[in-house]
Amino acid sequence: MPGTEPDIVDVIRSKRDGLELSDAEIDWTIAAFAAGRVADEQVAALLMAIFWRGMSPAELSRWTEAILSSGERVDLSGLSRPTVDKHSTGGVGDKVSLVLGPLVAACGAAVPQLSGRGLGHTGGTLDKLDSIPGFRSTLTAEEIRDQLETVGCVICAAGPGLAPADSKLYALRDVTGTVESIPLIAASIMSKKIAEGTSSLVLDVKVGSGAFMTERSQGAELARTMVGLGSHHGLDVVALLTAMDTPLGRSAGNALEVVESVEVLSGGGPRDLVDVTLALAREMLDLAGIGADPARALEDGSALACWREMVVAQGGDPDAPLPRARHVETVRADCSGVVTRLDARSVGVAAWRLGAGRARKEDPVSASAGVVCLAKPGDEVQSGAPVLELHGDDASRFDRARAALVGSLEIGDTPPPAAPVVLERIGNPRRAPRA
Ligand code: URA
Repeated sequence: MPGTEPDIVDVIRSKRDGLELSDAEIDWTIAAFAAGRVADEQVAALLMAIFWRGMSPAELSRWTEAILSSGERVDLSGLSRPTVDKHSTGGVGDKVSLVLGPLVAACGAAVPQLSGRGLGHTGGTLDKLDSIPGFRSTLTAEEIRDQLETVGCVICAAGPGLAPADSKLYALRDVTGTVESIPLIAASIMSKKIAEGTSSLVLDVKVGSGAFMTERSQGAELARTMVGLGSHHGLDVVALLTAMDTPLGRSAGNALEVVESVEVLSGGGPRDLVDVTLALAREMLDLAGIGADPARALEDGSALACWREMVVAQGGDPDAPLPRARHVETVRADCSGVVTRLDARSVGVAAWRLGAGRARKEDPVSASAGVVCLAKPGDEVQSGAPVLELHGDDASRFDRARAALVGSLEIGDTPPPAAPVVLERIGNPRRAPRA
């Protein structure tokens, strides 16, 4: 259609009828939406048509490109260290980002983690860091670059200039039941990651009751889609599918997760959390061409030292006491035996109801609220012993949090089979690490 602008109603009809959108139609739609020249209800209709009809690889690539073009791209070329980032699709108790940035930086890479706040029952990395007194998550592009050069890692908010069309699209998807679409999720995540300027990326795609993708097959499809999109845009991408049927580690909640992250950075912490962190760190270091052993960086204090430097560089006090909840209540085991199941989603919803998460983007979150899992699958418990600890400042929230936990923990006679945390690796062949 040379010389003429596409008509949004024709674009919607084409997608509705299963036709492939042209590059010009996609470019125009995203640019016009970002500029407020097409109505929300029209783009909502298009999103629903995409939800049902999907996108071809060519459409998806162009859609992602168009979102990228709606904003700026960070230029991280010229840093003295190789850049590598990680993105998680989100899970209950998933504090891995807090540990990974400093850990991988301590091994020699630059980790630019431009993160977001949480929505729903999975917590956001920035909400966790905000519980550290003084911590500043809004940095300028120059501060990000300087900190990557001096400290090696930064965890801060993605500025409004990066892929701004995605924020508008996401807000619309959120209220129109169109979030759970693999191409739309892939484009949303990858446009932001490509825009942030990293040259390689490890994706942690969570699958299970506490994750966006409850089925492993869906998670694998999302992972393959994102790996393909990254490669198409010149990014080295590897994805790990990891289990999210039970909370990761023992805590879900902002300050509670910072405490647990520092335990891991100090060489301790729960086994499942350490295993996922090290698996992701090894992939990141492989992509960066660095042959260091991340387990050693946890043991020898170098990862912890890097965490402290990062917190100080961003205005925080790594030694300051973190907020603690005014009220703590326990849930007790109703019989003796071994824990066979602890449902991640129920724990996430309980932490959210206690105040750790938000329902709308503008809601405040509580730093101290959350749930501590005193018993997890495989642990033996005695009848009447505390198995879960509920933390919160607002006593009126506890009843609803307890309601979310009804039936979430099962106790039996025999331990559950040992379940691996890393389920599958999807992506490029491993590189031989540099000596
Ligand atoms: N996270 C994102 O950034 N986008 C999505 O669509 C889903 C999760």
